Amino acid sequence: MTETPEREEVVELAKRRGYLYPSFEIYGGASGFWDYGPLGTSLKNEVVDSWREMYVVRHGYEEIDATTVGKEDVYIASGHAEGFADALASCPDCGTFFRADHLVEDHTDIENADGMPLDRLGGIIADEGIVCPSCGTTLDDAEVEEFNLMFETNIGPGSGRKGYLRPETAQGIFVDFQRLKRYYRESLPFGVTQIGRAYRNEINPRQGIVRLREFQQAELEYFKKPEEEIDVSPVEDVEVHLYPVEEQEDEGGEAFVTTVGEAVKEGVIESPTIAYFVGRSQQWYESIGIDPEKLRFRQHLSDERAHYASDCWDGETLTTFGWIEVNGVADRSDYDLRKHAEHSGEEMGVWQEYDEPIVREETVADPDMSVLGPEFGGAAGEIAEALRQKARNEPKAFEDAEDEVTVEVDGEKYTVPLEATGFNRREKRETGENILPQVVEPSYGLDRIVYSVIEHSYDEDVVDDEERSVLRLPPNTAPFDAAVFPLVTKDGLEEHAREIESALREAGLRVKYDGSGAIGRRYRRHDEIGTPLAVTVDYDTKEDGTVTIRDRDTTEQRRVPKDGIVGFVRDVVENDVSFEDA
Ligand code: GAP
Repeated sequence: MTETPEREEVVELAKRRGYLYPSFEIYGGASGFWDYGPLGTSLKNEVVDSWREMYVVRHGYEEIDATTVGKEDVYIASGHAEGFADALASCPDCGTFFRADHLVEDHTDIENADGMPLDRLGGIIADEGIVCPSCGTTLDDAEVEEFNLMFETNIGPGSGRKGYLRPETAQGIFVDFQRLKRYYRESLPFGVTQIGRAYRNEINPRQGIVRLREFQQAELEYFKKPEEEIDVSPVEDVEVHLYPVEEQEDEGGEAFVTTVGEAVKEGVIESPTIAYFVGRSQQWYESIGIDPEKLRFRQHLSDERAHYASDCWDGETLTTFGWIEVNGVADRSDYDLRKHAEHSGEEMGVWQEYDEPIVREETVADPDMSVLGPEFGGAAGEIAEALRQKARNEPKAFEDAEDEVTVEVDGEKYTVPLEATGFNRREKRETGENILPQVVEPSYGLDRIVYSVIEHSYDEDVVDDEERSVLRLPPNTAPFDAAVFPLVTKDGLEEHAREIESALREAGLRVKYDGSGAIGRRYRRHDEIGTPLAVTVDYDTKEDGTVTIRDRDTTEQRRVPKDGIVGFVRDVVENDVSFEDA
């Protein structure tokens, strides 16, 4: 396990070196909003690219890009308008707003108060004598109420049509599902991905980039038949730290190491499909620079699950903020598709052809309207419909009838001659049926992942009696593949260095030319931002055509021909060849 650094140092480095900037800083900033600087954007893009590589390229879960503003109907159907809320407490004296569950977690032994009923939270705040963290006033009388986290907006001028900024990317996939199922030719299972911004009006976001009001998600909705499960064998040997409900509820219980295969065999993770995505997440996290010793998967407690989820395992990383949730793998059942079908009146089912047609017998009525019309006048239509229903549901009423059948419409009884009901039995061939797919959703919070990668890669050591900070980022996430320095910017060294820079760029490698300051300081600058290799052009380059190449982690240096630099850098950053063997 890497040592946990001081948060201030990491955040200071991230800001100073161009990873993260507080948004609207010149206007005093606002909590819950952070921008990515050039290096942060590059690191985030690398993380996004490798996520795409995993799910879109290797699994074929194709990507969509839906709007971030949604009509109110979408979020009424999804349940967010009603249920996507946190518990809000406000100080009666200074008016500061707090998350009531966080107040309880911070001042009691309760580790997780998310999802606790409002009156219980209020009771604990009063019983424990919790005071306002801002002004010290006792919060006994503070009312605890629900606060919906969605940002509301109006679509078009006036206030006629309400809309919301999306609180998760997932709904765009569910709302487009009718077209997506046709795109996939109604062939289950299939996955759809989306990467983009989500918005939540968090009550009191004080954890830097960990709790944002505008953040980025990468989500996969995996649609499957109810009985269908993904084969876990490709990830069965992947080791994971699991923290199931039983361990959390047991005093002294803790996360334990097992493999994905064992977790399924032992029933620790009930759904093989969830277990599969836990395994894939573990592999991916390790590949982008998350420390496996600071990564665990924690099962949600029953009162913690989102309104749509029947089981959920969160990927959590250990950071200076404690354990933070970086992703969730949730079983959303058919909840969302069912709700959108109910609210829109549209068919969300996927047509599934049976292997063999099923022949069923059905009972029907086909009333003779030339008899019912003259006999019952305006009520004839409703009586005919009542006969059809009765034939379907109570065929014996027709079979046992001697010569008449009675139906009730609006509390009134009507008797119809049996031969005018058109009752009969017939065979019906069914070739398939519409089923609502089940959904398993791995959902990743990119900002928390990027921040965890930075913290887990941050290290301090001593080189040549001098302390240095170094980001030990894996080459696939580091913003640059290599830095190129001329020892001095005279005597033609600069031209040689620019030539190497161009050759590396031409080869598609990400490179930074740096000609300012003492060479030692340039090395330190690039250690700090995580550049894996540094190439230095010196006077010998002019003589023998060789350059120095330096390894960020060990600071070891080798002398190599400048014509071989592109191959060297590519081997180390793309082909996993060690610095010694390149
Ligand atoms: N579609 C499922 C969903 O949105 P979630 O657990 O609410 O589930 C998924 O969000 C991920 O998004 C979380 O695991 C977390 O990493 C990230 N996330 C959620 N709220 C966030 C916030 N306010 N700031 C930054 N990231 C957040």
